[in-house]
Amino acid sequence: MIDVLASNESPAHRMMRRLDELVKFSDEDGALTRLYLSKAHREAAKQFIAWCAEAGVDAKIDASGNVWGRYEGKAPGAPALMLGSHIDTVRNAGRYDGNLGALAALAVVEALAASGERLDHAVEIVAFGDEEGVRFPTTLTGSRALAGLFARAALDQKDADGVTMRDALVAFGCDPDGVGALRGRNIAAFVELHIEQGPVLEAENLAVGVVTAINGATRLHAKVVGLAGHSGAVPMGLRRDALTAAAEMMLLIEARARIEDDLVGTVGRVDVEPGAVNVIPGEVRFTVDIRAPRDEQRRRAVSDISKRLSAIAATRNVELTLTQTHEAGAYACHASVIAGLKDSVERVYGAPARLLPSGAGHDTMVMGQLCPAGMLFLRCKGGISHNPEESITTEDAEVGLTSLIDFTRHFQAGPKRAT
Ligand code: GLV
Ligand code: MN
Ligand code: MN
Repeated sequence: MIDVLASNESPAHRMMRRLDELVKFSDEDGALTRLYLSKAHREAAKQFIAWCAEAGVDAKIDASGNVWGRYEGKAPGAPALMLGSHIDTVRNAGRYDGNLGALAALAVVEALAASGERLDHAVEIVAFGDEEGVRFPTTLTGSRALAGLFARAALDQKDADGVTMRDALVAFGCDPDGVGALRGRNIAAFVELHIEQGPVLEAENLAVGVVTAINGATRLHAKVVGLAGHSGAVPMGLRRDALTAAAEMMLLIEARARIEDDLVGTVGRVDVEPGAVNVIPGEVRFTVDIRAPRDEQRRRAVSDISKRLSAIAATRNVELTLTQTHEAGAYACHASVIAGLKDSVERVYGAPARLLPSGAGHDTMVMGQLCPAGMLFLRCKGGISHNPEESITTEDAEVGLTSLIDFTRHFQAGPKRAT
């Protein structure tokens, strides 16, 4: 084993190398797909624990599948600054979304451990297991568990193969009954380093930015039931085609989202039954994801869309069932964390910090219900994310990491900063 604390490799280079190494833990050959509680997730978690051990941190998998470790401060049991992000991915993902923040947390602790430096506060590292919500209908399971917000009913949700979250947790080696009892104790603040996933920093030629707020999101599951029939024998006027009805619904969602600034609506997955060239589709299921920076704006859009989809279903004589699978309110990052990150970026980068909102959802929005929370964004090439083309530079990673280390050193757990 290399003694990482004594190695000459720079922290940013080591983090980038590990990001490349984590790619091999995938549920799919030739692509990065690491779903919550899958074999690849288990292997990535084990690798993460092994890297924590090299830094002298005894990390463990908690009841919900998060990896969680603690680097003590000067006095054992001191309040903690928690750093981290998620290690699950979307299908055919890029390697930086989530993984960057989890490995950056570890790199911060390594930087302290290399010289035996102890702070007034502890530093906790977390690699959340489910932020993407790709496997089960629900999302942000890891941070919800840690924030004490896990809804027990989620244990009965099933993945596409009919496996419940409860059974998947047991297969992963976790205790489903323990998830609801998890809650981070004595956590003074949570900070997440993440790629921007948008084009603003690149357009302004900036390596990093400080996040002010995170969009709220609602996810729905739509089921449209018509009548399967012979594609040659049933005249057009007598059909109850579930797919053409769903297509009209999808265009309505797009049109509704387009009429308001900042509102976005996406249909990301469609399943068609029976799915044969000569059969009129009898059933279509699709997902809807609606986001906005203002909760009231998002709720109004969801209500409008629901009504208009029902009207389309009635006109086309199909049945529509809409089920809400996720809702997260917009989160305004904590003023003390924003101020601390801004100071750090300015010390490290030598220029006024760019403040910007996040269109994507993040674990920070849930952790913000437990403690003051905030985020640092890193420029990503072309603003591309949720795509294997995701790309960052080692130079930018170094600015991000150095700012996070600086923030950690200057952090004060008391009322002055983080309440
Ligand atoms: C996670 O990446 C999300 O915003 O859906
Ligand atoms: Mn992410
Ligand atoms: Mn993501």
